[in-house]
Amino acid sequence: MVKPIIAPSILSADFSNLGCECHKMFKLRADWVHIDVMDGHFVPNLTMGPPIISSLRKAVPRGEKDGQATHFFDCHMMVANPEQWVPEVAEAGGDQYTFHYEATKDPVKLVELIKSHGLKAACAIKPGTSVEVLYPLAEKLDMALVMTVEPGFGGQKFMADMMPKVEALRAKFPNLDIQVDGGLGKETIGVAADAGANVIVAGSSVFGAKDPGEVIRYLRDTVEN
Ligand code: DX5
Ligand code: ZN
Repeated sequence: MVKPIIAPSILSADFSNLGCECHKMFKLRADWVHIDVMDGHFVPNLTMGPPIISSLRKAVPRGEKDGQATHFFDCHMMVANPEQWVPEVAEAGGDQYTFHYEATKDPVKLVELIKSHGLKAACAIKPGTSVEVLYPLAEKLDMALVMTVEPGFGGQKFMADMMPKVEALRAKFPNLDIQVDGGLGKETIGVAADAGANVIVAGSSVFGAKDPGEVIRYLRDTVEN
């Protein structure tokens, strides 16, 4: 069965101090850090790109624990031309490359390209996209991402009406890592976990908390139980 993976989104971190913020998250037992790459075209916001991933990788080198890679960088690519950035994200030290289904003409070819660069491959769908588009792809994917807000900004309200998509995916693919992203925190994790999500992105609820470690633990415990 799938295991809980908690991935704080550094979109809500202190950008002047990103290396330390990543270190802090891993120290607080985050499984991954989630890196939101936005290009101002696919979404109406600009954030960071391969140079920052590369600097972060130098600050937080890869390690290994129990045969598993540690300090995993989960790169959420909200970009209009996802094919373009695969080599650079791989070179910069990303571990997983999540493209948006809506941004590509050939998702199967893109998955192959991502894997050929040694990255794990994941596909995201926006709230308006039907979950069925993921069915023919799922066997080839390392993870599927069901967006629970319109991509572009942190701190938005969780869309509980996306949960039927998660339920449908979980019913068909019991071993698939299913990520939810947007508005996740202590108030909303129960619904997402019940629907079958096991990979949890959380930005403002973790970085805005007095005790981020406690929120990470709470999210993990809820998915586990
Ligand atoms: C939104 C991003 C999210 C965002 C989540 O487009 O993909 O990863 O950082 O932030 P919260 O958890 O604050 O909704
Ligand atoms: Zn994201």
